[in-house]
Amino acid sequence: MSRVSEIMQTMEYGTSVEDSAAVRDWLARRGTFGHFIGGSFTDPGDLFDTRDPSTGEVLAQVSQGSDTDIAAAVAAARAAQADWAALPGTERARYLYALARHVQKRERFLSVLETLDNGKPIREARDIDVPLVARHFYHHAGWAELRDTQFPGQAPLGVCGQIIPWNFPLLMLAWKIAPALAAGNTVVLKPAEYTPLTALAFAEICQEVGLPAGVVNIVTGDGATGAALVAAEVDKIAFTGSTEVGRGIAAALAGTGRKLTLELGGKSPFVVMEDADLDAAVEGVVDGIWFNQGQVCCAGSRILVAEAVAGRFETLMRARMDRLRVGAPLDKSTDLGAIVDQVQKDRILAICRAAVDAGAELVGGQPQDGCFIAPGYLRNIAPANPGMTEEIFGPIATLSTFRTADEAVELANNTRYGLAASVWSESATVATDLASRIRVGVVWINGANMFDAAAPFGGYRESGYGREGGSGGMLDYLAELPVTAVPDAAPSVPVAVPEGTAPKGQGIDRTAKLYYGGAQKRPDGGAMYAVPGGLAPLGGRKDIRNAVEAAAKAGKWAAMGGHARAQVLYYIAENLSARAAEFAARTSWAEVDAAIARAFHYAAWADKFDGATVQAKPGHLVNVIPEPFGVVGIACPNAQPLAGFMSLVMPAIAMGNAVVAIPAQNDPLAVTDLYQVFDTSDLPGGVVNIVTGPSDDLARHLAGHEEVAAFWHAGAQAGLAAVDRAAAGNLKPVWAVPSRDWMGTDAQGEVFLRKATRTKTIWLPYGA
Ligand code: NAI
Repeated sequence: MSRVSEIMQTMEYGTSVEDSAAVRDWLARRGTFGHFIGGSFTDPGDLFDTRDPSTGEVLAQVSQGSDTDIAAAVAAARAAQADWAALPGTERARYLYALARHVQKRERFLSVLETLDNGKPIREARDIDVPLVARHFYHHAGWAELRDTQFPGQAPLGVCGQIIPWNFPLLMLAWKIAPALAAGNTVVLKPAEYTPLTALAFAEICQEVGLPAGVVNIVTGDGATGAALVAAEVDKIAFTGSTEVGRGIAAALAGTGRKLTLELGGKSPFVVMEDADLDAAVEGVVDGIWFNQGQVCCAGSRILVAEAVAGRFETLMRARMDRLRVGAPLDKSTDLGAIVDQVQKDRILAICRAAVDAGAELVGGQPQDGCFIAPGYLRNIAPANPGMTEEIFGPIATLSTFRTADEAVELANNTRYGLAASVWSESATVATDLASRIRVGVVWINGANMFDAAAPFGGYRESGYGREGGSGGMLDYLAELPVTAVPDAAPSVPVAVPEGTAPKGQGIDRTAKLYYGGAQKRPDGGAMYAVPGGLAPLGGRKDIRNAVEAAAKAGKWAAMGGHARAQVLYYIAENLSARAAEFAARTSWAEVDAAIARAFHYAAWADKFDGATVQAKPGHLVNVIPEPFGVVGIACPNAQPLAGFMSLVMPAIAMGNAVVAIPAQNDPLAVTDLYQVFDTSDLPGGVVNIVTGPSDDLARHLAGHEEVAAFWHAGAQAGLAAVDRAAAGNLKPVWAVPSRDWMGTDAQGEVFLRKATRTKTIWLPYGA
């Protein structure tokens, strides 16, 4: 007779299939779908099939949205926006609350529909996706209520175009729609072509709760419909999807001044330190890379294990992997369901083949009939192997080892992405050290793939910009109330004066230099141009490159801490005061006063622009920390050269960034005089770098530089489009700083600090 433990060992789960009758009735009744525009469904148009990827069965037919459909939806959203924004917060909150309640009431229906359309296991749709959808609407009902008191000086953007992917169809819809509505915007949302059905069911929920017509509009279709939405007259595009499409959207919006947030791909590290609880870490791998068949932007797809425990960890992981069940998504005991579409399955297999061809060994990961792939991982894989660099977006991890914590951080950061990281260590000191050094938007300590509406989510680098969730997410659907615009002066054409040939007796009293790495430098081309009061260097592409390289070496500035940075800023203010008359002679007393005020103001802020601990999940300390970008490029306004420069550079450096600034093209000498002030104020070399010359050209080179992580454009409007296009290349956010009086009160405040930082969300579980 078998012992109980043996029975337990061999016991197989029976099948337990979730009942899909209600959903199938609904599909049979509805059959074909039009779009949801202005509160009602349009007649079905040009139709395409949406299928259950696990069986290939056609579930329904939906309409391919045309330019005309998009225009109608945007018009409906525009017509509804002012009234929606003007509703008292409590009323908007009630609608969001009602949406949450109705999602909850239909939890089973929505879970089954999601599973049928996407192929994900019902266990995940039911226990993770749909509850998080309800949570998102509840949380944002709160923000709707509190908008006016918690976001003073901020206003809704207007109409938001939202484009979402197929991996978490309804959850991504909630992430997009809830904050937009809470802030007072109206939306046009385009779901992914593989998974439109839960969005259409959500449209019915909008009708059920009596949401005013036009507040939510849903247009189905493929990438062409998405592109039409990007081209439409909307005030913001929020996109989640591939880095490639995100890059194209950033380029398409160049020069329009429209807001953009991007949540793109990832190749997130999953770091297992020597002292980690290995059993827990293996469960983390299951949640990290085998959740949702690995089709997760923040999947822990690069497993990095301390060499000392690598053998044991792999044995445990392999045993766990071999017990995962791949099968029918509606079966409640299925761990991995179907890949969303044959196209994606082929893509996953192609990357795995390329990885193996490049020398890696694939364990598991075999294709099965239909849209199924067994879980697997690539071992013996070199850093440059495509399996290591490309986002596989399937149930295949990579496994490699490291020796020291420094090496772990280096490997973790060796990617163009920066979405998330998991860090496993029983030492809080070690884990938090790694969390602070890995350059990503979200870190889970001793955990993986945890999400909550209160915890901002979003990336660094090519994983995109903007945050979803919490107050940071709300801010991405709001904008600073318009300031009084003071149009910037147009740049005059710089007239090159070869060095040493300046004619005598024409009032030339000064020849300035460039400034980078803490030293004055001659421009690479050797040319100067005439400006009021003397000659300024005509900087070029090579000077920009040198300045950026100098800025990139100033990393210690961030590590010094807010208090030490404040001291330097106070010192700058003091030294500038001591030489005020000299600067006033070049500009005006009002400009000098404003410049001193900025240094004082941001010295005050340097150790006070704090993050928050948010209430995301009981038993977790979830910290949202503003971090500097690294190198920020700044094109300064032409008017008010000293006040403009200081109003932009001081907040950026106060937060720990290094700056490469292009001062006013027409009149840069007040800024070049600051070199001595910086040198005598203990500002470390490389923190502020200055290249004078033709500002549009310089801005374009600076915005295109890989090392520049964010760009502020406060120069003449004409240069913005080229800057946006250059920045789209490596997906850096561009802030088109609205023109203003740089000596006035609008020229300083928290908005500058927010733009100087991005948040990292660190999840730290507790419990003895
Ligand atoms: P995709 O980026 O093409 O699709 C995402 C959404 O963008 C869909 O709604 C699609 O219709 C829309 N879209 C496509 N082209 C567009 C355009 N030119 N303008 C506007 N909207 C457009 O992603 P796809 O092709 O479905 O998946 C390819 C790869 O992208 C995946 O293997 C994965 O690596 C990555 N991906 C990442 C996601 C994430 O959550 N970060 C989600 C989906 C895909």
